[in-house]
Amino acid sequence: MIDSWNEKAVRVHRRLLVTGGAGFIGSNFVLYWCDTYPDDRVVVLDALTYAGNRGTLAALEGRENFRFVEGDICDRTLLDKLLQAENIDTVAHFAAESHVDRSILGPGAFVQTNVVGTFTLLEAFRQHWKTPPFIPPVNGGDRGEIFLHVSTDEVYGSLGPNDPAFTETTPYAPNSPYSASKAGSDHLVRAYHHTYGLPTIITNCSNNYGPYQFPEKLIPLMCINALIGKHLPVYGDGQNVRDWLYVIDHCRALDVVIHRGKPGETYNVGGNNEVKNIDLVQTLCELMDELAPDLPVRPCSNLIAFVKDRQGHDRRYAINSTKLKTQLDWSPSVTVEEGLRRTVEWYLKNRDWWEPLLSEEYQTYYRQVYVS
Ligand code: NAD
Ligand code: DAU
Repeated sequence: MIDSWNEKAVRVHRRLLVTGGAGFIGSNFVLYWCDTYPDDRVVVLDALTYAGNRGTLAALEGRENFRFVEGDICDRTLLDKLLQAENIDTVAHFAAESHVDRSILGPGAFVQTNVVGTFTLLEAFRQHWKTPPFIPPVNGGDRGEIFLHVSTDEVYGSLGPNDPAFTETTPYAPNSPYSASKAGSDHLVRAYHHTYGLPTIITNCSNNYGPYQFPEKLIPLMCINALIGKHLPVYGDGQNVRDWLYVIDHCRALDVVIHRGKPGETYNVGGNNEVKNIDLVQTLCELMDELAPDLPVRPCSNLIAFVKDRQGHDRRYAINSTKLKTQLDWSPSVTVEEGLRRTVEWYLKNRDWWEPLLSEEYQTYYRQVYVS
């Protein structure tokens, strides 16, 4: 029995547009959704930037209820066509430039995709949503149209060691071009609900980890560098704190928000797992020593190197997810110990997935950040 404002006792089949569905969280979400709700229609729109990987969704290609479209969220004509032709009722918006270090090197792409792209998508959905009629769903229920904007805890800025965790009412104070561009997109989404009544929901989530994460991010970078015998670069003093959430728990949170969240609301999503970077890297080293049979350097911790700090590096993030827990009955199911073990095992078993990503473009990026 589903007892929320927008779901009937008999579940309505949804027709989702998932932007950025070939990226890390987007692809985990699409795989999760197609597995959990096989009768829903899932259309992925992804520009396949360096961070997008269509191969991650290979198992879904050819399925009747799945479609992959290569394209840009800034392309209004394409958006209009897709929303209408697919009669979309649910937008799950993941597409973004997502890496803080790249935003420091080149902020322009972040403003373009995260701000202009989100604006273009909002405009297209506003047009689509107000144009009657939606084709009635098969089982005759309300559609429960939703525009879900997937955002980040980084919009709230940086915490001191004893500050309380971010809540949904913490004032925005973004510190990097990445987080400023995400904050800008959050404000647009909020305004479209307030002004036009668009059924939007924003989620602000902490650091995700798990399978299919691009090698530039902390956890895959450490696993992959250990496997190829490169140093493990820890920024600054390694005392920065992040709140880690296993990616499937994030997908479960987005599931309850889509089905039972209230339009106009914001929900914080976090793992309640605050860890200092250096402690996380030490744990990863221990897991690598245990699980990887032929490491080039052992113990793996011999590869740890403290390097120049990230410019404007936020010291600490922590998320208070009480609202999501109490109102929508969500809580994380995977402990950080279990999640890290699963993740290390995944990178060990899936060399074919990550090896091609260590491309010339990646090496150039790597040199810019780590060799100066
Ligand atoms: P990612 O970088 O792995 O994937 C981004 C995807 O978006 C890629 O597939 C890319 O090709 C696509 N994309 C980029 N620009 C596009 C455009 N103009 N049009 C269409 N597609 C485009 O990112 P991620 O880590 O999966 O993050 C997904 C979302 O979740 C982002 O909005 C991010 O801000 C947010 N988020 C991420 C985390 C995290 O820890 N990774 C935490 C909280 C929130
Ligand atoms: O908090 C949510 C955010 O988490 C998301 O919005 C972003 O999209 C996502 O990239 C992530 O941002 P971070 O900057 O926190 O993640 P990253 O993996 O880049 O770094 C995690 C921490 O590790 C951070 O304090 C910087 C540090 N770090 C990172 C790298 C890549 C290092 O010390 N060395 C490294 O080589």
